[in-house]
Amino acid sequence: MVKKEDFKRCEQSSFCRRNHAIAKYAEEQGSKWTSPYVIPPDTIKLVDGILTADVIKTVDAAKQETRKFPMTLKFLENGVVRVTIDEQSRINGEIALPEGKDGKVNKQRYNKVEDYTIVGGLTPDTSVSKATKTKDTTSIAFGPEMKWQVVVNHSPVKIEFLRDGHSEVVLNDRGLINLEHWRAKPEDSGNGDEAAAYPPGYEKDGMWEETFNGKTDSKPRGPESIALDITFVGYTDVYGIPEHTGPLSLRETKGSGEGKFDQPYRLWNADVFQYEYDSPMALYGAVPFMQAHKKGSDVGVFWMNAAETWIDIEKTGSVAKNPLSFSTKAESTQTHWISESGLVDVFVFLGPDSRSLYKQYGGLIGHTRLPPLFSIAHHQCRWNYESETDVLDVTANFDKYHIPYDVIWLDIEYTDKKKYFTWDKNFFPNPDRMMSRLEETKRKLVAIIDPHVKKEDGFSLYKEAIAGDHCIKNADGGVYEGQCWPGLSIWPDFSRQSTRDWWAAKYDHKNFEGSLANLHVWNDMNEPAIFDGPDVSMHRDALHADGWEHRDMHNMYGSMMVSSSYEGLKARDPKEPKRPFILSRSWWAGTHRSAAIWTGDNMGTWEHMASAGPTLMNNGLAGMTFSGADVGGFFDDPPSDMLTRWYQAGAFYPFFRAHAHIDTKRREPWLIGEPYTSMIRDAIVLRYSLLTTWYTAFYTASKTGLPVLRPHFIQFPDDTDGFKEDRQYFIGDSGLLHHPVTSKDAESIELYLADDQPHYTYLDYDELRGKGSHTVKTELSHNPVFIHGGHIFTRRDRQRRSAELMRRDPVTLVVALDNAQFAQGELYMDDGETFRNEAGEYLHRRFTFTSGKLLSKDLHIGDSSQAAAKRKYADDVDSVFVEKVVLVGLKRTQATDVTVEQAGKHWQADLEHVRDLPLGRAVYHVRLPKVRVSGDWSIQVA
Ligand code: NOJ
Repeated sequence: MVKKEDFKRCEQSSFCRRNHAIAKYAEEQGSKWTSPYVIPPDTIKLVDGILTADVIKTVDAAKQETRKFPMTLKFLENGVVRVTIDEQSRINGEIALPEGKDGKVNKQRYNKVEDYTIVGGLTPDTSVSKATKTKDTTSIAFGPEMKWQVVVNHSPVKIEFLRDGHSEVVLNDRGLINLEHWRAKPEDSGNGDEAAAYPPGYEKDGMWEETFNGKTDSKPRGPESIALDITFVGYTDVYGIPEHTGPLSLRETKGSGEGKFDQPYRLWNADVFQYEYDSPMALYGAVPFMQAHKKGSDVGVFWMNAAETWIDIEKTGSVAKNPLSFSTKAESTQTHWISESGLVDVFVFLGPDSRSLYKQYGGLIGHTRLPPLFSIAHHQCRWNYESETDVLDVTANFDKYHIPYDVIWLDIEYTDKKKYFTWDKNFFPNPDRMMSRLEETKRKLVAIIDPHVKKEDGFSLYKEAIAGDHCIKNADGGVYEGQCWPGLSIWPDFSRQSTRDWWAAKYDHKNFEGSLANLHVWNDMNEPAIFDGPDVSMHRDALHADGWEHRDMHNMYGSMMVSSSYEGLKARDPKEPKRPFILSRSWWAGTHRSAAIWTGDNMGTWEHMASAGPTLMNNGLAGMTFSGADVGGFFDDPPSDMLTRWYQAGAFYPFFRAHAHIDTKRREPWLIGEPYTSMIRDAIVLRYSLLTTWYTAFYTASKTGLPVLRPHFIQFPDDTDGFKEDRQYFIGDSGLLHHPVTSKDAESIELYLADDQPHYTYLDYDELRGKGSHTVKTELSHNPVFIHGGHIFTRRDRQRRSAELMRRDPVTLVVALDNAQFAQGELYMDDGETFRNEAGEYLHRRFTFTSGKLLSKDLHIGDSSQAAAKRKYADDVDSVFVEKVVLVGLKRTQATDVTVEQAGKHWQADLEHVRDLPLGRAVYHVRLPKVRVSGDWSIQVA
């Protein structure tokens, strides 16, 4: 059971409590409530796509006492609007810090999140230059053909975003904005100047100091939370804000809806031991991106703040009840965002569809990097493989039992007393020998490297950390120390470039003794997990470089670490850099540029298995598409049927790794026994046979930001019945639909079909038809996978020991026809290992089947400068040919052969009838058409 008492609830966090008090008061006051924030119209200026204005907060109306918060609205070239609000007195440094803190603690609001998060897309659209002012509002047209509009209401402040005349997103719709201004700490802990500014229930305790579970936060800058409500007008489904368990379409946390959570969703990266499977509690990752979807429209916001954040969601018609509201539609989602410190820095995306949305969002934080091919294959981990012999025995057994695998993992026990970058030589006397042996069968090793550094005088990493001033400091300025696996430890300050460079260099082969090129890395415990810290993490008042507090950047810490690891691994081979593979436990917006993630310490229960799907989907929507869950469950010993089902589910996670706690029984597939071992083998082999399809989906994700696991609402944006569907999902654009079985002894699944196109079962091509729910029988041996008619995907039917060994194997095309006898699909291939693809060394094909003819056409986007690179790769895979085409749902034909054409030559191939389907259709094989994948070709069925 999770120890809930170790983690704060909203009411235990003073800034969350204070902002909830405002929300409650505003609700009680109804139409009498007015937000005390206004924008004097004469402060509004619009120059070259940037609007500046002052937001004025009335602190004491009687005394006419106010505070100034400079605001900017940046209209960016991609149609995104960035709204930033800072605080004048803190910008000016006009705040008094407690004794001894001057010069140590930064007086500003934290304004560096951008530096670690944003990679592009910030250029203002200078054509946005006309502001239309009335007494009450200022309106600005922007976006495509200037058809989008922002309307700024002056008093009270409110910012409405309209697309084609329709209100979509409203900031401060309910007047819950709260910018905690700097104020002097009252001598007597009395009310100071707050009395007039805040509603009853707005407690002052916790503003200056706060203690949780005996750990005190000194809060040298006093209260500094920021909060804003955001309404998605006319949207009832919102998604994202990972990482949480629970349904894909986010639950309410307020209001009267059924099944609502009693807490806001929390974003505070934390090591939550034995977390719950349906909960708004914070987990290891935090991405404050929310997408709202309705028929015909997608919009979103990115709340770029890396401090602790709470988000309330309420789906009611109460927008209409609030007379101050711009919006009149009854069905809306109201959200309330509350962060402990930093700036209001919110990006608003108006879509209008999910593809545009991910383009806009991805333009800022980048898309996921194309991973090395081996890393999307099957990984075998446990805490711990005990020795070199153990590692090689496990490898030998995979081969003996004909189960493909690519990566074996070493958890913390491989080190000398949990000192990373060292080996326990009693058990791993010769790591490079071990890695060479793995390399012989093209396998890799992943070794864990955690951020805590053992405090031991003779340990070189520790000595260097101290000597190089690389450590995070405690609030008093001494080196921050805490407990983790090695005992007393220190933590590198990854917010510094010099520290990131120092750490990166540790991965160099000469520094990481015994490491070879096939060693990759697992950065765990990087929230950071600190066993004796508050919320099992770091004290918020710990100090990073430039006097910034840990509270300001907590949710980015892991991301900063993995970006350093990424650079280090990439630099190992300067002549021919290889794509690093890193698994991170902690993550933030943009971590996907460096690492994959997994859902941490899940339980070996059916409920946890079921909750992985929606969690991974929400992760993917927010940008972290390369994610998975521990297959088998981290804790407990899964019964054989559960383990089998979990392998089947895991074979359809973007990141597919079996892992287990040190106290669990060994559970490598051959130990489970028949019939389970064979069923598990089948699930893994299925993953390998579809690697070309997975890789193509990753390529699409890397170019478009579209997630690899596609929820129904993305694939069928107008099908309202599917907006909440989260028991099944599609793999990229392949048309493959997976519905994992996640309950014991399930004899059937309820499969949801979004349209009236035929859907075919993966193994037998049985046809299902008709929009709506279908009861489909399932057996334990059977992983429910379906093909949506209208799609073409590729697979490789020859089983090998690892992914790299399949590189030149022939390809099979599965052409699943729709009602119009049409289908289309894609194939992307490259060397799977280097960065040469970026110079054009890759192949990208588009397949279409229409009027009985299957065509392969080039989709390579490189210009003439890439022609030579493109040819080089084509030559490299010249021997890769299509060995079979499966035509599923083709109208029955009398033909027995087909005409193939490539490079001006024609030849015949056999057409083999496999089985009949309803409505005069059938399944056929085109046997050995022998076209080369690298060139254009056609296959005509007479
Ligand atoms: C916590 C991780 O979540 C888990 O996967 C790992 O096995 C342990 N740390 C030990 O390193």
